[in-house]
Amino acid sequence: MKITLIVAKAKNNVIGKDNQLIWKLSADLRRFKNLTTGHHILMGRNTFESLGKPLPNRTHLIITRNPDFQAPDGHFSFTSLVNAFIFCNKMGVDELFIIGGGQIYQESIDLCDVLEITEVECEPDGDTFFPEINPKVWKETERESFPADEKNEYPYSFVTYKKI
Ligand SMILES: NC(=O)c1ccc[n+]([C@@H]2O[C@H](COP(=O)([O-])OP(=O)(O)OC[C@H]3O[C@@H](n4cnc5c(N)ncnc54)[C@H](OP(=O)(O)O)[C@@H]3O)[C@@H](O)[C@H]2O)c1
Repeated sequence: MKITLIVAKAKNNVIGKDNQLIWKLSADLRRFKNLTTGHHILMGRNTFESLGKPLPNRTHLIITRNPDFQAPDGHFSFTSLVNAFIFCNKMGVDELFIIGGGQIYQESIDLCDVLEITEVECEPDGDTFFPEINPKVWKETERESFPADEKNEYPYSFVTYKKI
């Protein structure tokens, strides 16, 4: 199973504040939708709460230490990352997307094969951070950069890293 991490992060590695995103970037939302639709997406319980409801056409795997947590119908919860990975292997999942948040990125980045990063050209205040990308482990293989416009409040780049 290929494991792909997807994130939008600021230059200072901030990814969120008060359990919310902190920018308006419709191109990033569109890319997230294009990449993840039809797939299994794994997230921490905080990120799931921040979504409000499941995203359409994706199977949500929610990580929580609460064994009584009830995932919505058609979605699943697990008390560890390992249990979620075992489930995906049993289900024959070909590509799993890790969609956040800060705790889950920190705990899973070493287990991923590909990082799909949106680099956002800003340095906001925040309370949740993405870990440093170790250049000895990750090689940048693609980069596309775009200016800010009326639907994207900061310049941004879509960057792909593959594990060396
Ligand atoms: N910019 C982006 O691309 C992006 C993407 C996603 C999220 N975010 C932002 O990130 C923030 C949320 O991140 P976060 O770090 O607060 O939370 P999180 O990683 O989404 O979820 C943390 C929760 O996951 C569970 N958990 C974590 N590690 C676990 C483990 N090893 N075993 C079992 N359960 C585990 C715990 O749930 P319980 O407390 O229920 O036990 C923990 O409280 C928000 O601001 C959100 O907007 C940004």
